[in-house]
Amino acid sequence: MANIIIVGAQWGDEGKGKIVDILSRYADIIARFQGGHNAGHTVHFNNKQYILHAIPTGILHPHKMCIIGNGVVIDPAALIQEIEELTSQGVEISEKNLRISKRAHLIMPYHKTLDLMREEKKGEGKIGTTGRGIGPAYENKVARTGLHIADLLFEEPLRQGLSSNLQEKNFLLEKFFQTSGLSLDELLDQYKSYGDRLKGYLSDTSIIINQAIYEGKNIICEGAQGTMLDIDHGTYPFVTSSNCVSAQACIGLGFGPQFIDGIVGVVKAYTTRVGNGPFPTEIKDEIGEKIRKAGREYGATTGRPRRCGWLDVVVLRHAARVNGLQTIALTKLDVLDSLQSLKICTAYRRKGQIFREFPPELHILQECTPVYEEIDGWQQTTHGIQCYEHLPQKAKNYIDRIRDLLNIDISMISTGYEREKTIFIKNSLLDRWLGIGAD
Ligand code: IMP
Repeated sequence: MANIIIVGAQWGDEGKGKIVDILSRYADIIARFQGGHNAGHTVHFNNKQYILHAIPTGILHPHKMCIIGNGVVIDPAALIQEIEELTSQGVEISEKNLRISKRAHLIMPYHKTLDLMREEKKGEGKIGTTGRGIGPAYENKVARTGLHIADLLFEEPLRQGLSSNLQEKNFLLEKFFQTSGLSLDELLDQYKSYGDRLKGYLSDTSIIINQAIYEGKNIICEGAQGTMLDIDHGTYPFVTSSNCVSAQACIGLGFGPQFIDGIVGVVKAYTTRVGNGPFPTEIKDEIGEKIRKAGREYGATTGRPRRCGWLDVVVLRHAARVNGLQTIALTKLDVLDSLQSLKICTAYRRKGQIFREFPPELHILQECTPVYEEIDGWQQTTHGIQCYEHLPQKAKNYIDRIRDLLNIDISMISTGYEREKTIFIKNSLLDRWLGIGAD
């Protein structure tokens, strides 16, 4: 039995989808614990591409139970659409393999409008959100005025909740943002129908998870976004509105920390970020463009080009600490194949001062410049390599340097989009937790 948490160690888009997909084979339950449909997890197999937003990646494996936990915020219209799109691609989704926490909070149309309007009003200082209403939905939750997805099933409480929310939201929309408000009756009818469509999926999922733990089943807790987008530990305020770090798995699913066996950080072999905010190792010249093209670095949710940069060990040290990372899955190594030389940022410099740890103050961070170590590129293809021994020596040097700088075990290396284009490292922690059967 092993219950593991998989989180992104950078600004999201590390390739968690592929890693969770591969490891789902060894799991009984795959559960999402935070975020919403701002996430975009891309998985390729059998020459098909699947993009998951709110539904756990494990859904691509028949007979695995997938859970959307209480820590997730759900736009029911978007969720229904996601279910329908995946079903039309041949993915089987039913009440038998998808359970949704009754305590998950709803994203409503006013959240989406507020998200877009707030961004517009911020102008230059905007966060660059996905515009899905994530922030305003979490705000409502913390303000204790949000609606649970289970509220869709009960007309009177739903009417009351909507009505009191609309009093405030319509005031904001009409008076502050000078746009139109929403009608209670229309929303009520629409959301009751979503409730009818989704009611079979709703459960107290904490009970399912804890029962599975009791039965010795394997659970994968699937993180979305990444550590540097975490509301507490990221580059605030340029972050998402949930906790993306490993500890959130317990809160967002409703189980105790004593049942966690392992924490895996997914690390892209370079760094990317979508949206605004500090990014010390960003590459603004043609090398950045080369990486963007080779890595197809365009947002899975919004299609926006991702900003690209060198691997940042200061970020990874921070991620290792705040998540308690025990092992790393290194992704997209092959994207770097053509580069003559690579840089690894080992520290930041500001006014003659050296920072080994990520500074919490945004204004200090903005004045930091990276201290780089230069490493020879391997300039050979690593695409599709499945065995560590077959990697070019210079690629191994890069990987070894990352391991040494972080002092963390590396257990998987991804060398391409497809499931099989993966190296499992023998005797790594993951191998031992899950009995993966390394090469
Ligand atoms: P929000 O989560 O839509 O509020 O967006 C807040 C910030 O998080 C923005 O910079 C987004 O680009 C970023 N973000 C949200 N979800 C993801 C993701 O899945 N991958 C990468 N960035 C994300």
